Amino acid sequence: MRIDILCLFPDMLVAPLDQSMLKRARERGLAHIAIHNIRDYAHDKHHTVDDYPYGGGPGMVLRPEPIFEAAESIKQQSGAGDIPVILLTPQGRLFSQSVAQELAGHPHIMLICGHYEGFDERVCEHLATDEISIGDYVLSAGESAALVVVDAVVRLIPGVLGSEDSASSDSHSNGLLEYPQYTRPQVFRGWAVPPVLLSGNHGEIAQWRRCQALLRTARRRPELLRNANICDEERKWMLENSLNPR
Ligand code: ADE
Repeated sequence: MRIDILCLFPDMLVAPLDQSMLKRARERGLAHIAIHNIRDYAHDKHHTVDDYPYGGGPGMVLRPEPIFEAAESIKQQSGAGDIPVILLTPQGRLFSQSVAQELAGHPHIMLICGHYEGFDERVCEHLATDEISIGDYVLSAGESAALVVVDAVVRLIPGVLGSEDSASSDSHSNGLLEYPQYTRPQVFRGWAVPPVLLSGNHGEIAQWRRCQALLRTARRRPELLRNANICDEERKWMLENSLNPR
């Protein structure tokens, strides 16, 4: 998969993209991630990328010309056709595991990081195909949001994680929070690992984990249960245990 990131502060991305899972995915050729500085596409003497808003008001707005030029030239050089061109903005649709899955299904995407008061609306209307927000808060730099998206998407590319199973048991991948995990020591400061996990009985372990995932989701994020896949038997069990399956 190829990901082009257009931004104003490339250094904010360089080190994080060169660590851990993202580094391995790039080295193994599973993710090709290219960082581009929008400023390189501004042709005035000072490489200006922003300007005052028409109509007045606080802050600066990102000008359309360098962003269009950057996106079009990168698309042309890479031979990309109709790829998703995604703006990172607090006004976008909310990012989630299912949006990450959707993006991981594309061979090539482009992310454009915003700053200041945001993008000139013509970028949103005539260049972007999508707008994504990573949450209902405002960051000073779209680069942090792009890193969140890239991390969540790249780990879903087949072959990136050690075992294909680890992405499928993640929190949110089946609509539920993940069950609790334990490792050695078996007893730590008097707190023991649940005996079922030591039983070697795979059926019982799977059932315990499923119940824990349901319990945890009901307690911490009950609204998720509305869209989760829960069978009748599980619904009955939840009601018997005073958990509202919604
Ligand atoms: N830029 C500033 N805030 C943001 C957010 N919440 N999500 C995506 N991009 C942003």
